[in-house]
Amino acid sequence: MSTDPTEAGSGPAPTAAAATSAATSAAAAAEAPGRVAVIVPAAGKGERLGPGTPKALRELGGLPLLVHAVRTLVAARSVDVVVVAAPPNPQGLAEVQRLLADLPGDTRVVAGGRTRQESVALALAALPADCDVVLVHDAARALTPVDVVEAVVAAVRGGAGAVIPVVPVTDTVKAVDGDLVSATVDRSTLRAVQTPQGFTRDVLAKAHAASDPSLPATDDAGLVEALGLPVRTVPGHAEAFKITTPFDLVLAEAVLRRRR
Ligand code: CTP
Ligand code: MG
Repeated sequence: MSTDPTEAGSGPAPTAAAATSAATSAAAAAEAPGRVAVIVPAAGKGERLGPGTPKALRELGGLPLLVHAVRTLVAARSVDVVVVAAPPNPQGLAEVQRLLADLPGDTRVVAGGRTRQESVALALAALPADCDVVLVHDAARALTPVDVVEAVVAAVRGGAGAVIPVVPVTDTVKAVDGDLVSATVDRSTLRAVQTPQGFTRDVLAKAHAASDPSLPATDDAGLVEALGLPVRTVPGHAEAFKITTPFDLVLAEAVLRRRR
């Protein structure tokens, strides 16, 4: 789960060579990449799924959506810390704490906010100081394959400040004005956007600091775009779809059955 330990520094009495080597490894540690954190916004009500418990706590194959999502994240070799923004009511918080206690890895909980953007900002404020790469991953994308997570981290480590997984749009998309079509959008230039979205911590923090909480964005890359900074795409995956409606839950059950 954690990064490789560097020289532990214990051992025999210091010599000149050992002192040089200690200085070199201290310099390497200073420049070594920090850790990777994933923020999981899970505080939504799931209104489009219909009445019931918060969406992240609804079950899929006998386990809450949140557990599916976090299991994948802690299994990702590149991920060190997972911070979940839980439903802020006492029952929601307690339930998320209970669920995460049963999972391996470094997982933490914060109370989420009224909008997704606010939930992400609250988790961002609670990140450990040594995390320099931050992913944001919707609990509702419960079946996202681990390869997508690794590809996003690799692209950030490769130098991108902001990275989003995308898939081609298969439907023809039209803009409408009431019930009249106003335009057909060129589908070849469109992509549907998924999570996890990945950022250097600097870029994500700047984007959130500059955002207007009264005009919340539906994704974090949108806040980066608003700053005029580049956002790179990597291939997403059909199974990273967001569980939004009751039909999506049926689809997710089918995906899970095929995996098992
Ligand atoms: N989310 C959050 N805090 C909020 C609202 C949403 O952390 N105040 C999270 C959701 O839990 C979800 C992700 O953001 O994992 C994507 O949001 P969405 O799919 O819209 O989930 P809900 O807001 O729960 O669903 P709905 O909009 O149907 O109520
Ligand atoms: Mg929502």
